[in-house]
Amino acid sequence: MSVSQAIPETSRSSSPALADLLTHERELYTKHNPQSLALFQKAKNALPGGNTRTVLHYSPFPVVLKQAQAANIQDVDDHWYQDFLGEYTAGLYGHSHPEIINAVSEALSHGLTFGGPTEREAQLAALICERFAAVERLRFCNSGTEANLLALSAARAHTGRTDIMVVDGSYHGGVLSFAGENPLNAPFPTHRIPFNNLEVAVEKINQVGRVLAAVIIEPMIGAGGCIPADVGFLQGLREATEKTGALLIFDEVMTSRHGPGGLHGMFDIRPDLVTLGKYVGGGLSFGAFGGRADILERFDPSRPDAWPHAGTFNNNMLSMTAGYTGLSKVFTAEIAQTFFKQGERFRHRLETSACSLNLPIQVTGMGSMMALHFGSKKPRAPYSHPPGYSELYELLHLKMMAKSQFYARRGMINISLPVTEGMFDQFEASLVSTIEECANPILETVSL
Ligand SMILES: Cc1ncc(COP(=O)(O)O)c(C=O)c1O
Repeated sequence: MSVSQAIPETSRSSSPALADLLTHERELYTKHNPQSLALFQKAKNALPGGNTRTVLHYSPFPVVLKQAQAANIQDVDDHWYQDFLGEYTAGLYGHSHPEIINAVSEALSHGLTFGGPTEREAQLAALICERFAAVERLRFCNSGTEANLLALSAARAHTGRTDIMVVDGSYHGGVLSFAGENPLNAPFPTHRIPFNNLEVAVEKINQVGRVLAAVIIEPMIGAGGCIPADVGFLQGLREATEKTGALLIFDEVMTSRHGPGGLHGMFDIRPDLVTLGKYVGGGLSFGAFGGRADILERFDPSRPDAWPHAGTFNNNMLSMTAGYTGLSKVFTAEIAQTFFKQGERFRHRLETSACSLNLPIQVTGMGSMMALHFGSKKPRAPYSHPPGYSELYELLHLKMMAKSQFYARRGMINISLPVTEGMFDQFEASLVSTIEECANPILETVSL
């Protein structure tokens, strides 16, 4: 495979230094990862692009993983990495937390799928209601995407209205992706508002008015770059939706890890519906949607006017057990507080180090989720990358992987519980040296 061929022409013209460095880095990476390359090529015979989850693809090819322990992962070429990806927030517990492993092993010994209700699902549901103020009742499903589809559908059924509103650049699942146009999106009539711009948002909400069923928003944009919402923006959305009779849905699939009660708890805002996923399943596949009892009660199957909600694996024992054990024994309310503070401290450290280099690099985020951006100001809304930025992200990422650091190609960093102080130090040192090595291409590429 010729790695240099894959570098887009735009980057060659925007910064020769960047194109040359990237070619070199790709060659080193390819040489360093022969088993991953071979497996990647083989996988293409059955999986398009050797891939079954788009976000896991990165150029020139992703390393193929074989095992993980605590906050470390190993690839098939036997390299170990410090895991600062944290499975895009689903890996909050790390990879081998003994409480969760024991509970799942114990559950396994009692059988797999029962085809009836179990005590576990009610225990996990009760725990979630206790923790998340806006969740008075909830339903389980199998992914965050499904949770959002169900929350939006419930909002449409509850209001008798058709349309939904989303933030431009937001992500709520594989078929609810609003960064650019996604031809596979669920066919809800959809309107877009800019993030953190209350005036425009309120105007749009009023304009769509009586056909607007719901506004769905992440209280901190996750996939779009860990950009926190202004509390005033969220409060304004709360008021505007209440006035027009639309429901407000907070997608807390990622952000529910912030503090004991998610961001709606921290900001003291009550959305009508909340969606959950990722780590809440303890590392197994999981989704949930919940909220106001008067809305959720329509799912009571004994009602003559009940809304149906099916899902073979909604209450599967493994996810219910891992989720319950995680929330009750590991990620307790107290630990959630401490973990948030630990993440804040780490982000401030990265910000201070990046700032001291005098280069246009920013770190945004809250708590244990953060992201790197190029530019002289922190972004206030998701944005599309100017030319050359994707190549800069790639250069940083390949260099960081060569230093045994694993995080998202797009610059997202998520901390998991087993990350140690020594690991924070190593990640920070690697990032600083990497940014220093990339100073010229950064300065040449980034519009200040
Ligand atoms: C905010 C948000 N909502 C929903 C989803 C979809 O969750 P899942 O991948 O479990 O379908 C994601 C996944 O990254 C997400 O970040």
